[in-house]
Amino acid sequence: NTLLETNAPLSGKKVLITAGPTYEAIDPVRFIGNHSSGKMGFALAEVFQKLGAKVTLISGPTSLSTPNCVSRINITSAAEMLQACSENFEEADILIMSAAVADYRPKEVAADKIKKDEDSLILDLEKTTDILKTLGAKKRENQIIVGFALETTNELANAEAKLKRKNLDLIILNSLKDEGAGFAGDQNKITTIDSSGNKQTFDLKSKVEVAKDIAQEVLSLLSKKQ
Ligand code: CTP
Ligand code: CA
Repeated sequence: NTLLETNAPLSGKKVLITAGPTYEAIDPVRFIGNHSSGKMGFALAEVFQKLGAKVTLISGPTSLSTPNCVSRINITSAAEMLQACSENFEEADILIMSAAVADYRPKEVAADKIKKDEDSLILDLEKTTDILKTLGAKKRENQIIVGFALETTNELANAEAKLKRKNLDLIILNSLKDEGAGFAGDQNKITTIDSSGNKQTFDLKSKVEVAKDIAQEVLSLLSKKQ
């Protein structure tokens, strides 16, 4: 980890990081959400800040406290996350999209609490905007975009397809196979794939250590772009 030993290697760089789940309202008291804890994104914010970057953390609902010297924007829904990301992307040098953004939201939000009048209920859902794909299409030559992928089948091929489809520089494939890895836990096991096709698999480790590995990869991508 030679690059990480350099003092403040990311000084002067602006990094936009997203974290946590999004909640999509069904009615005034209910939502569709997911089990993302936000821990991976918050660990990334902490590590990138310590490397000297100016970090903006756009977070869905979590119970985590903001790392030191990180500016935080709280959002609830995928639409709000898209808005906040769009407003901050242009000035960012690096975007890391670790949030678990909902893929679908209720087409209409009921104005009143839905009563259990019927024996069954069908919710009409519509797709949310793919934030990474939208921003990937606007990426400038000197910007770096990192995405995450969660797959249960054809992991590498699917992750690589996402990297290309969304115009990413790096994708982090989360392995769900290992005990302790994943959403709620404090550890992750990742494989990274960059846009040149280089793949690297890491051991199961704490999310802060995983964040350091990701930072190392981002630093080497940055040095190639400059
Ligand atoms: N993502 C996003 N906007 C969405 C959905 C996902 O920006 N509306 C981002 C996630 O933050 C992640 C990456 O896209 O960095 C991949 O998310 P993932 O759920 O693995 O893939 P999807 O493209 O949503 O495809 P699918 O869920 O069908 O595998
Ligand atoms: Ca998805």
